[in-house]
Amino acid sequence: MRHSASKRGQWSDHYTQRAKKEKYPARSVYKLQEIQQKYKIIKKGDRVLDLGCSPGSWLLFAAQLTTGSGRVVGVDLKPVSIPLPKHAAVFTGDILFVDDTLAASIGRGYQVVLSDMAPSTTGQKDIDAARSHNLCRAALDIATTVLLPGGTFVCKIFQGSEFNDFSDSVKKSFRKYKIYKPQSSRKASREIYIIGMGKL
Ligand SMILES: C[S@@+](CC[C@H](N)C(=O)[O-])C[C@H]1O[C@@H](n2cnc3c(N)ncnc32)[C@H](O)[C@@H]1O
Repeated sequence: MRHSASKRGQWSDHYTQRAKKEKYPARSVYKLQEIQQKYKIIKKGDRVLDLGCSPGSWLLFAAQLTTGSGRVVGVDLKPVSIPLPKHAAVFTGDILFVDDTLAASIGRGYQVVLSDMAPSTTGQKDIDAARSHNLCRAALDIATTVLLPGGTFVCKIFQGSEFNDFSDSVKKSFRKYKIYKPQSSRKASREIYIIGMGKL
């Protein structure tokens, strides 16, 4: 069904307004909430790494789920300015060029690695999908390095010609593999989430 511009605006507004009311800095929080509701990926006491964490809504939601007994670490090119609980930390850095200092700050031993990273878009689908694929590759490299056996990886990807290759790589490193499009993700958007569970 096609929606008019005003209908689309209302739809997008619903999540934006809700995020404001519930004190999250971005409407993207509802995508992670839907993933969490369906797959229960984050548990109390977990260590969670959030790649591409700014402005901080996934980070905040993950911190609420893990509670003070867990640890949540975020990395982004941009800083995060919202107040976070003590068990959450943010490092500014580029996931495509992780140096020793950033690697040491991230550490290891995570139950969950999230990547909601998105490239700056050009509007040209092939270029944007290739850039997204690059970020996903970097996220998967980090996930396979820092996740504990049995751990979970959630990764946003813009679907393009390299989607199947990337899916195959995730399948090789995890016991279970799922693809999920949250309701709160715009239908017109080519973004989708790949979920690897049970890191081998
Ligand atoms: C859609 S936003 C993430 C929103 C976040 N999940 C939230 O709920 O607040 C995508 C983020 O990916 C980050 N990003 C893009 N490329 C990156 C890179 N190479 N290294 C680190 N972060 C990157 C962007 O700066 C941007 O903040």
